[in-house]
Order: sequence, then C-alpha cells, then structure tokens
Amino acid sequence: MDYQNIIVTREENVAVVTFNRPKVLNALNHETMVELSAAMDELGADPNVHCIILTGAGEKAFVAGADINELRAIPDAATGAGFAAWGQAILFKMENLQKPVIAAINGYALGGGCELAMACDIRLAADTARLGQPEINLGIIPGYGGTQRLPRLVGKGRAKLLILSGDMIPAQEALRIGLVDMVVPAAELMDKARELARKIASKGPLAVAYAKNCVNVGAETDLVTACAYEASQFGLSCGTADRTEGTTAFLEKRPAQFKGK
Ligand code: COA
Repeated sequence: MDYQNIIVTREENVAVVTFNRPKVLNALNHETMVELSAAMDELGADPNVHCIILTGAGEKAFVAGADINELRAIPDAATGAGFAAWGQAILFKMENLQKPVIAAINGYALGGGCELAMACDIRLAADTARLGQPEINLGIIPGYGGTQRLPRLVGKGRAKLLILSGDMIPAQEALRIGLVDMVVPAAELMDKARELARKIASKGPLAVAYAKNCVNVGAETDLVTACAYEASQFGLSCGTADRTEGTTAFLEKRPAQFKGK
C-alpha cells in the first residue's frame, strides 16, 4: 500500500511505523486508521519483521487522539457505535498480531493515541510525554477500548480518575501507575525502543508469539484455564526447531541462531 499518513520503515528485523500528520499532532483520521490496519497486515505477514515500533512524527506528539473534525461530523448514535467498533477492531488486530508491538511515546498520547498505546505490548515514553483520555471534555467517552484497557492496566479508580476528569498526566506519573513501562530522556527514546525491539527480534519469533498470546489470553481468563492455555502454547514451543537450537546452543555455550521454525 502507498501510505500517505504513516511512514513504514524496516531496519533488519525491526519495522518502525511513524504516524505522520504533525500539523494536527498526528491525530488519527479515517485514512490513518485504514493505513495502520494495512500496515499491520503487511508487517504481520512479513517473515523478516520480528518486532514493530509505533511512534509519532515531530517532537510534540505521539498521537493526540482521533481527529476531532471527524468526531464532530458523526451524525447519530448508530454511526458513532460503528465508528468505535471499527477502530476497536483495528486495535484488536494489532494487539493479536503474532509479533510484538512497542509504543515509543514521544509526546502527547491522548484519547485514541493513549488507546493506541495501550493496545501495544510494551510502552516506552519520553520524559516529556503526556498521556490522558480527554474525550469527556468533548462531550464523548473513549471509544477505541480506553474504558476497558485503562482499568486493566492501572485499576478502576485511577482509570476513572483519568477518564472522568479528562486530565493529562506526565510520563513519570504514567510510569508510577503502570500506564507506561519505561520512561527515558526524550533524546534517547528511539534508541531505547530500537535496542529493545532488536533484543526481542533476536529471540525465536514463534516463542515470542506464544508468550505474547499467553499473557494476552491469560489476562482475560481465570487462572486454571489460562494455565491450560499456557501448557498448550508451551507444548507448541517444544515442537519447534528453535527449541532444539536454543537448548543445544545453551549447552554448547554458543549464541542461538533462531530460525522461526
Ligand atoms: N484532532 C484534530 N486536530 C487536532 C487534534 C485532534 N485530536 N489535536 C490537535 N489538533 C490540531 C489543532 O486543532 C491545531 O490545529 P491548527 O494549527 O489548525 O489550529 C494543531 O493540531 C496543533 O494543536 P494545538 O492545540 O494548537 O497545540 P497545543 O500545543 O496548543 O495543544 C494539545 C496541544 C494536545 C493539548 C491540544 O492540541 C489538544 O488538546 N488536542 C486535542 C486532544 C484531544 O482531545 N484528543 C482526544 C480526541 S478523542
């Protein structure tokens, strides 16, 4: 696909998707979401891509939310419900991709931008980043999963504090409550994100996918069912050539050469 609103680059086994509408702080309009969806299909199907980083163009914003021009133009409740369900489906696609997605939050991550980051596997934030769900200030509520993923990450009380007040919080506070996983100086954000992505990309991609699946599935189910699921995914990992290579390499005191098989 010929992307107009995002930039997709590949560096060895790592792909970087950059939201590129800096004049509107990378707000997510319909076309941008279509392109994100297409990029997930493309990168998900590319065996050379083992890990994906999402970030925003410019120094100010990761993504400052859904495009408020489009929100204003939603004509009725049914269209609004469809708008939300469609965006949610794209974020589910990303969340369930069989490779990890890292959010490199380089600035404002608001509304749909915060929801986008929460659907990623790991969130790194610049120390200058600010996060929040300000939809309430627009007379609406989060619709790309924010009312559901935020309490799962930070607890119900803190989620309601953010969603009902519409307040933004700085990166350090987001780290304290578990909304992001690491805060780094802004100038180092992409280096840190690449370093982490390359590290993950060097592992066996099947084992990485199975581990991601287990955490995702387990977080939404009871412990006994989740452990049964883990056992099945562990079994799958034991059937791979990468298991033979990884365990043999350890015993032979050499680095493993994983093949994704
Ligand atoms: N949708 C559409 N346009 C947006 C946008 C959004 N979500 N967020 C910012 N923009 C536009 C602004 O309208 C402005 O356009 P203009 O230059 O034509 O006036 C431009 O991006 C720059 O934003 P501006 O508000 O001037 O920057 P700022 O530094 O003063 O404030 C924010 C930054 C993030 C605090 C502010 O832009 C903001 O509150 N944005 C909306 C956040 C939001 O409610 N998101 C949730 C939507 S679901």
